[in-house]
Amino acid sequence: MRRVVLAAIMAVAAGSAAAQDYPNKPITIVVPAAAGGPTDTISRVTAQAMSKVLGQQMLIENVGGAGGTLGTARVVRAAPDGYTLLIYHVGLATAATLYRQLPYDTKQAFAPVGLITDAPMTIIARSDFEPNTLSELVAYLKSREKTTIGNAGVGSAAHLCGMLFMSETKLQLTTVPYRGTGPMMNDLIGKQIDTGCDQATNTTGPILGKQIKAYAVTTKSRLKSLPDVPTADEAGLKGFELNIWHGIFAPKGTPPAIVDKLSNALKTALKEPDVMKRFNDISTTPVPENRATPNAAQSTLTSEIDRWAPIIKAAGQFAD
Ligand code: MLT
Repeated sequence: MRRVVLAAIMAVAAGSAAAQDYPNKPITIVVPAAAGGPTDTISRVTAQAMSKVLGQQMLIENVGGAGGTLGTARVVRAAPDGYTLLIYHVGLATAATLYRQLPYDTKQAFAPVGLITDAPMTIIARSDFEPNTLSELVAYLKSREKTTIGNAGVGSAAHLCGMLFMSETKLQLTTVPYRGTGPMMNDLIGKQIDTGCDQATNTTGPILGKQIKAYAVTTKSRLKSLPDVPTADEAGLKGFELNIWHGIFAPKGTPPAIVDKLSNALKTALKEPDVMKRFNDISTTPVPENRATPNAAQSTLTSEIDRWAPIIKAAGQFAD
């Protein structure tokens, strides 16, 4: 018994000693989606601002594929020393049900650091796609069999949004999966696929530049950055709403003092005027301070796993 207590005291002491000079080398942030997509963009803005606060480089490693589960597994297996972190979104919660063979238990696998932003989705199409409004799109899809919709794999935000669209409209589209919606966007702009549903973070520029068409945003009210794009509800899909939260997660066992340092750096970074502007320009909203915390991130992760599990099970849509 005394040995166990002693070991616990020594572990805590080692943790706080490690925390004191943390970080003393670059930190790797694993982004479980391809470079150039929304998760990548949000991660790069966040990492740049946090690295200024922490006085250390934060390097982005893109590990896309399998709806974010490959990159997530890489972080779960990493040493819990604060030098390997994950930035991901609601897909972390949905994968817990969609993938029945995950090598980790999502609710238990992390020492969450905090949430970062809330991002709306947009329903989009290639610039020369015939329908001009959401109701025209629905009518068009009813009479065509081979319309394609891109996504970032099963469990991605783009997949969830497309699934919701298909279930609301009772329509079936041909899904085209990518390693992230960065490459999907290239193909949509290049007119290789017909439609998509992606975070406004990734679509605001191409919509404003008229490289793609936008039918709706998935928020309650219109976005300041896209004032001409109606909400899905206004455009005819009553109650259609989807918000994509992003957060930072360290592997379970990371010393609490290190997690606190990271969470404090995140809170400071999110208040930087330049960060707020950069997020604003791409239609994503930094969370308030009380959500950039370990508790808020853990409770969001847990409640989102519980919220999506019955929906996914009822749809019978599993990834394996
Ligand atoms: C998603 O659909 O999950 C994301 O857009 C993936 C990405 O960031 O590329």
